Amino acid sequence: MSMQSIIFEPIGIIHSLHKIKEGTPIQPSRLHRSPGEVELFPEFRAGLKDLEGFSKIFLVFYFHKMTDSLLEVTPYLDDQTRGIFATRAPSRPNPIGLSLVDLVSIESNILKVDGLDILDGTPLLDIKPFIPDIDHAEGISVGWLEGKTPHFKTHKADDRF
Ligand SMILES: C[S@@+](CC[C@H](N)C(=O)[O-])C[C@H]1O[C@@H](n2cnc3c(N)ncnc32)[C@H](O)[C@@H]1O
Repeated sequence: MSMQSIIFEPIGIIHSLHKIKEGTPIQPSRLHRSPGEVELFPEFRAGLKDLEGFSKIFLVFYFHKMTDSLLEVTPYLDDQTRGIFATRAPSRPNPIGLSLVDLVSIESNILKVDGLDILDGTPLLDIKPFIPDIDHAEGISVGWLEGKTPHFKTHKADDRF
């Protein structure tokens, strides 16, 4: 298999109250309101047809303010290094983010959402509906995050990534 570059164009922009990394939630959580808007570029608007019936959506986005690409990081909620692929840290070889947010409403090409852990101005790559029977699993292991995951709901970022 030959290696090749992949070029994506953003399909929209995420507008959020979070202008800097410090203080931004480290994951979407209902414990802190974090409203914002997803502005889908008008040429993609037809793709929103039938999305309004879904209460949660995945936003796939580009971590455009990532500083370094790293293979090991000291992630939030820990004090030792972990392999980047065992974390959700932004400093990835391909800096792609995935956030599950509440879909509040859709007006034309603007989606009102809540639960953003995403910086203002972030380029949007894709939107997918959350489907419980596909996206939920029982009896899973969370490795080094065992016992730490409740803190995702309350923890805020610093400037480490
Ligand atoms: C730990 S990441 C998790 C993002 C997503 N939920 C995921 O799992 O891929 C969330 C943090 O990334 C940082 N962040 C958000 N948007 C960013 C962007 N566009 N560029 C760089 N860093 C960003 C913020 O500090 C935020 O607290």
